[in-house]
Amino acid sequence: MTSSLFDQIEESAAFLRARGIDGLDGAIVLGTGLGGLTAQMEILQSIAYDDIPHFPEATVEFHSGKLLFGILEGKRVLVMQGRFHYYEGHDFASIAYGIRVFKAMGAPYVLLSGAAGTMRIDWNKGDLMLVTDHIHLLPGNPLIGNNDERLGPRFPDMSEAYNAGLNRALRAAAEEEAVDLNEGVYVSAQGPMLETAAEYRYLRNIGADAVGMSTTPEVIVANHARLPVACVVVLTDECDPDNLQAINIPELLSVAAKAEKKLIRLIKNTIQRIDAERLV
Ligand code: HPA
Repeated sequence: MTSSLFDQIEESAAFLRARGIDGLDGAIVLGTGLGGLTAQMEILQSIAYDDIPHFPEATVEFHSGKLLFGILEGKRVLVMQGRFHYYEGHDFASIAYGIRVFKAMGAPYVLLSGAAGTMRIDWNKGDLMLVTDHIHLLPGNPLIGNNDERLGPRFPDMSEAYNAGLNRALRAAAEEEAVDLNEGVYVSAQGPMLETAAEYRYLRNIGADAVGMSTTPEVIVANHARLPVACVVVLTDECDPDNLQAINIPELLSVAAKAEKKLIRLIKNTIQRIDAERLV
């Protein structure tokens, strides 16, 4: 008999606890081209996803696929370096599996990062955007199927999908670090192809400011698990439907690499400010 999802998550968490990972102050997911934060951590444990029982297998070209535990700014953090995408063929439960492990490990919050294109012509590539809300357009989600109440409620509320306390900390950190932080709505798209001009126009018209191929399944599961979540994306390309340029992936990655420096300052400052007691 295959074990339940709940049991699998508990086994993953027990494996990590046996490696001395506990007392977490926070958890972080680093997206495409945004792995550099880990160079600033005192790494206590570095574990390949493939070595963690029940963890999905990492297949991504851009990511190294590691779970890192260590000290950042005096805080005990667990970091996913590389995430799972729908376009790689992962099912939705796999895409969000790490978030459930964070919850089982007692993380008080999770900060997500990623890359996205922006439909706002008044914003520039290289800018950061705090995600204040989202439109989940992926063709499925991690909560479909039988609900295990131990993981969360059948019908989770999404009225404050992005935690207000975490967002306050991120805004204050941005101000102190003099980092411009746009705010807006993120829409998830399947990928791996980029969008057509008509699709960018459509996404703008339905109320999105930025589009990417990830994060919303993780945010859905974090809300289901009542794990406070916030998300900052690097805007890597400008998606003006009336003047659409061909995508240049090396350039997109170099924009992410440059903007990463700001993102790292923002995250380091933010984690010092978060008062976990006041998040829920
Ligand atoms: N579309 C979808 N995903 C993306 C984009 C985009 O323009 N840029 C970075 N990730």
